[in-house]
Amino acid sequence: MITVVGSSNMDIVLTVEHFTKPGETQKLIKLEYFPGGKGANQAVAVARLSQQPVYFLTAVGDDQYGKTLIENYEREKIHGYRVVSGVSTGMAFIEVTISGENRIIINPGANDTLSKEMVLNAKDELLKGDILLIQNEVPYETTLAAARLFKEAGKTVIFDPAPAQSIQPEIFNYVDYLTPNEEELKSISEQLFGSFHSIEESFKRMKELSLKAMIVKLGDKGATYIDSSMIHHVPTIKVTAVDTTAAGDVFNGALAVSLSEGKDILEAIKFANISAAISVTRKGAQPSIPTRHEVEDFKNTYPL
Ligand code: RIB
Ligand code: NA
Repeated sequence: MITVVGSSNMDIVLTVEHFTKPGETQKLIKLEYFPGGKGANQAVAVARLSQQPVYFLTAVGDDQYGKTLIENYEREKIHGYRVVSGVSTGMAFIEVTISGENRIIINPGANDTLSKEMVLNAKDELLKGDILLIQNEVPYETTLAAARLFKEAGKTVIFDPAPAQSIQPEIFNYVDYLTPNEEELKSISEQLFGSFHSIEESFKRMKELSLKAMIVKLGDKGATYIDSSMIHHVPTIKVTAVDTTAAGDVFNGALAVSLSEGKDILEAIKFANISAAISVTRKGAQPSIPTRHEVEDFKNTYPL
């Protein structure tokens, strides 16, 4: 089983012709609401790709958005959410241009109330999973506590350091796979070492801080895996990007599913690349996440 600890958001998506420039006013093309949040997107990816129930420790507010997200979790067989009264559900205001680029403003709301104590109190439920997925959209102490709990129990931890924020290398001790994109890797390297040179160079230094392995997500170029014995690039398929929101989350969820089925890491990255590529061809965070059936179909149609 796979466990996710992380954020839930209602995504408020503004489709625009181009990113609004400072001082400019433009008309909206479309306004849409989609369930999102990095933790939730990973949980939904795991549910659809593993066809198994998922334990997802997350917090939503006692408002209408929270209700909508919960209905969605119930439908996807995702359990473990907490409803916190007196706070609003997390929101993400996402501008998507007609060429498929996005940028995001977050109102964390209930996500900021997901505490280390909530992790420790849910210990038994959480540890029913063999693999833990964590991200950077809830307080760092919470993510750290979850990672530590899993590592001390001898389990696998996948940490997606997204969105980029300040990082303490202590967490590397409890992580099996760090899965940044290029921007996040740059931000981590600059914070820890003052500069960024290459994937190899930054991994070499992070290894000295106890990191075991890293997978750098390179968007339409696929992903690069590196550990102390090898570096390997796994290319992906070309697709027409409609909306890349949640592609990274789908990648992580799919990676965990494939590893939990006993696949080796490069095989798991291949599966993650394909799953993420499909999600990019569709709009919205969770509505774009493929089912297992779709990924298998796709693999047969476009062999890598
Ligand atoms: O990774 C995509 C997610 O980031 C969106 O669903 C949005 O909620 C933001 O948190
Ligand atoms: Na998408």
